[in-house]
Amino acid sequence: STEELEQFVWDVKKSLGKRLFIPGHHYQKDEVIQFADARGDSLQLAQLCEQNEEAEYIVFCGVHFMAETADILTTKNQKVFLPDMRAGCSMADMADIHQTERAWEQLTKLFGSTILPLTYVNSTAAIKSFVGKNEGATVTSSNAEKMVKWAFEQKERILFLPDQHLGRNTAYNLGVPLEKMAVWDPIKEELLYEGPIEEIKVILWKGHCSVHENFTVQNVAQVREQYPDMRIIVHPECRREVVELADEAGSTKYIIDAIEKAEKGTSWAIGTEMNLVKRLIKENPDKHIISLNPHMCPCLTMNRIDLPHLAWCLDSIVQTGTHNQITVTEFDAQNARQALAKMLEHV
Ligand code: 13P
Ligand code: SF4
Repeated sequence: STEELEQFVWDVKKSLGKRLFIPGHHYQKDEVIQFADARGDSLQLAQLCEQNEEAEYIVFCGVHFMAETADILTTKNQKVFLPDMRAGCSMADMADIHQTERAWEQLTKLFGSTILPLTYVNSTAAIKSFVGKNEGATVTSSNAEKMVKWAFEQKERILFLPDQHLGRNTAYNLGVPLEKMAVWDPIKEELLYEGPIEEIKVILWKGHCSVHENFTVQNVAQVREQYPDMRIIVHPECRREVVELADEAGSTKYIIDAIEKAEKGTSWAIGTEMNLVKRLIKENPDKHIISLNPHMCPCLTMNRIDLPHLAWCLDSIVQTGTHNQITVTEFDAQNARQALAKMLEHV
């Protein structure tokens, strides 16, 4: 029963104490997040894993790329687990290393050494390694502006992987006009751009988050009509047009902070993943909060981490099993660590 599973998890946590660390991303379900030793956005969780020296077992309640990042940032003796191996990220899957290497070959033919790769942390360890090898860095939605600014201090132009929307929204906020942004289509292996290529400042990988693409201009119009006083706050993984029309945009941490410090009685439409929106509704009964898309938008892969999988994973750890352990090869980890270190230095 649920009660038995919950009791089991509490018991394991108690018996392992500080030997076990459970980071939980804000998009995790309540049935899982209740056991998290720390909740955070992807940047905070990466930092906490890097700083944690005492945990032997890190059970990552989030998605695969986050667990990989945790493995890269921790020592050899610390083991990282993902309670369900199917908890991937559709965005991270939109850039594979072979496509990236082929794209890089073509882009460096066109632009020589004037281009620097940046990757959103929502990418595989192999992509982070590729970026590190080519002097680039990772970014998260909390520090994308800082990192893109940094990148432009190094080189004339950037390749931003794999989320075109975060890349476009960030570069736009820093003053890069949309006319200077091209899109790389990894399927057709071509650069989508009209105009002289010397003008290009940003090359956006044609990837997106299937959850955040569900927030539309129509949703915004509907909210504006129905609730004229409502503030609209969205995650920067949303399309440019939606971010443009919203009142604010920021990472999951940014959204939580904005809602928590908002005055009583204010009303908010939020454009991000369903579990977080539901939690904010529950934890802020003094504010009127809705999802920007009335159908709510769950991240199906985040939701694969549930109580039974968490309990099963802990049971396997107690039996000293290595099921669902996430290990990044030292070959990838070395360069990926450099890409991550450049980011962690700047925040
Ligand atoms: P943040 O936690 O950085 O806001 O990212 C959201 C997300 O989509 C994680 O997969
Ligand atoms: Fe990936 Fe989007 Fe889910 Fe985040 S919300 S894990 S970017 S699919």
